[in-house]
Amino acid sequence: MKKYVFGTPIPTGAVVAEAEQCRAEDIPYFSVSDGNVLNFKMDNDTAVYGLGPNVRGINKRGWIYEAFNTDEVLHVEDRRRLYGSHTYLLIDGAVKFGVFIDTAGFASFDIGYTKSDDLTVTVGDGNFTAYIFEADTLTGLVKELRKLTGSSYVPPLWAFGFNQSRWGYKNEGDIRSVLENYRRMDVPIDMITMDIDYMDHYKDFTVDEEKFPKFPEFVSEMDKEHIHLVPIIDAGIKAEEGDPVFEECMEKGYYCKKADKTPFYLAVWPGKCVFPDFMNDDAARWFGDQYKFLTDMGIRGFWNDMNEPSIFYSFDRLKMVMDKIGDYKDKDLDVSAFWEMQALLSKISQREEYTKDFHHTVDGKLISNEKLHNIFGFKMSKAAAEGLERLVPNERTLIFSRSTFVGLHRYAGMWYGDNRSWWEHLKLNVRQAAEANMSGFIYSGADIGGFGSNATEDLAMRWLAFGIFSPLFRNHTALGTRDQEFYRFEKLDDFRNLVRLRYALLPFIYSEVMKTACNDDMYFKPLSFVYEDDKRAKEVEDELIVGDSILIAPVCEQNRTGRYVYLPEKMRLYRMRSQTDYDTQVFEKGDHYIECALNEVLIFVRPGHVLPITDARSVSSSYDVDFDSLTPLKFDENERVEYIQYFDGGTTREMNFEKFTRKIEF
Ligand code: NOJ
Repeated sequence: MKKYVFGTPIPTGAVVAEAEQCRAEDIPYFSVSDGNVLNFKMDNDTAVYGLGPNVRGINKRGWIYEAFNTDEVLHVEDRRRLYGSHTYLLIDGAVKFGVFIDTAGFASFDIGYTKSDDLTVTVGDGNFTAYIFEADTLTGLVKELRKLTGSSYVPPLWAFGFNQSRWGYKNEGDIRSVLENYRRMDVPIDMITMDIDYMDHYKDFTVDEEKFPKFPEFVSEMDKEHIHLVPIIDAGIKAEEGDPVFEECMEKGYYCKKADKTPFYLAVWPGKCVFPDFMNDDAARWFGDQYKFLTDMGIRGFWNDMNEPSIFYSFDRLKMVMDKIGDYKDKDLDVSAFWEMQALLSKISQREEYTKDFHHTVDGKLISNEKLHNIFGFKMSKAAAEGLERLVPNERTLIFSRSTFVGLHRYAGMWYGDNRSWWEHLKLNVRQAAEANMSGFIYSGADIGGFGSNATEDLAMRWLAFGIFSPLFRNHTALGTRDQEFYRFEKLDDFRNLVRLRYALLPFIYSEVMKTACNDDMYFKPLSFVYEDDKRAKEVEDELIVGDSILIAPVCEQNRTGRYVYLPEKMRLYRMRSQTDYDTQVFEKGDHYIECALNEVLIFVRPGHVLPITDARSVSSSYDVDFDSLTPLKFDENERVEYIQYFDGGTTREMNFEKFTRKIEF
């Protein structure tokens, strides 16, 4: 591992290990121009991985991506940026190496977009560190990156249970009704998420007392049912006189400022807000301490949102827009004048120029957000994670973030933001799961069923069939969309069987996640990372290896009764309808059309491997799951196989492979 420093980069906090510093002009593989452009010539067979959960393929070749965290509501192919910046690439061709571009500002990655064999990285203002690492295998490169950036966060065991969410649960009654409905349906559940409506006028660190008159009692009542409530926390703090969080933030000067040092006012859900200055260590510590309000009430899990940061409008811009709109009054508008007027409001949100308008205080100096933009969400969620560690030192806590940067995986999980109830986005979820793992975000997942748009029963079911493998296992949808809790649909038995199958798989899923976290490995791997010499496997991006034992092949298209599956080696299929109802068959290496009805899941066990499952037929939550008595689903029934199980009870912050693993002979 070597580092090449260009200019004078601002530290990001991504890296935790030392690397030998070399002269920037000696950087291998790349030719450098203009001080900020790195070029690498790709041969025809080179595949390029990395950049975290993003649009398009796992192999990122053929598109241009930009690192500039953005609240992007439409995850379609022509986008270049989403919520996070994972500014590294793994290059797999005649040479195999990785490069991590450590910069908190803008960078672009043109991976054969402008010229098919050119990989061109252009880094903002030329102040950055490039780390170059090498290994013989792709997983070796992943481990090198993890050595540099640290090992992965893992949440408590209950965070691997089923999580029901919706933007629109307004009060205690709505949450009770979710639980009652799942209980009536006999579906196990561990978490119910609380979106912005639980707060008093969307103010962070408040609970609306009309909607939740006795919140601490409610939390402990849910706790007795082994249900964890997981409230949202947003990046913006409502600017309201009398609000203690806002007042303290202002008094201590912990807010982001304009160039003239006055507060930068912007709007998000509550209207007028300020951003805490997460780059200022004291402010970050103060922000982390605010979670006490909710941990004191028994809350142990949070999701941090809107932290790219998302800005509906800045107050300065709104004033300018309103003044200008006034100028149009009583005018005869031709088409261009009309468009100009229309754009004033329609283009007021998420403007890149806002990042120039507000500043952070670093070592006493004001630095514009533009230069530190990509670590805003990282610093917010790190502040939260460190706060939780101080507040609840002896327990693991749950935290996942929408905006991410390399290194945040040491502190938090992530979800992939506002996808849609589209079949295309189920496919995208499969790819993003592998991409997040590459970056170290093992605890991650997409909104199952899709966030925007309306889910259909078949989409929800197929998505669930993939989602049961996802460490973050959450059904979430947007305000105003069709209800998509599983009890809203007709095929209740099938939904129940699939969720129960997740709980039957829980000992395996938990164990594989913990092992991959301990070994700096990936829980979800693309086939190309396991079967590196298999050219065909390189092109398969809709199947994944889970842990070490199994290959999964979700059906991601509507009105299908099966799908083509490529098997890179001979494997045994378990076509599962529930943990007890399945058929099984061995398939040779190669392409196969495999039938898969709507209520079925395709799991292929690799030779010499085993999938241990537990009896989850009567569990109500992860609390009831038996991690000791496991039944093996083997490749070869007559063969003895070993399984290394990691189990630590799921609450301790200690991660220790030696201490918490046992060898089981099946
Ligand atoms: C945006 C988040 O991505 C979404 O999950 C959430 O429901 C809304 N904000 C409202 O809080």
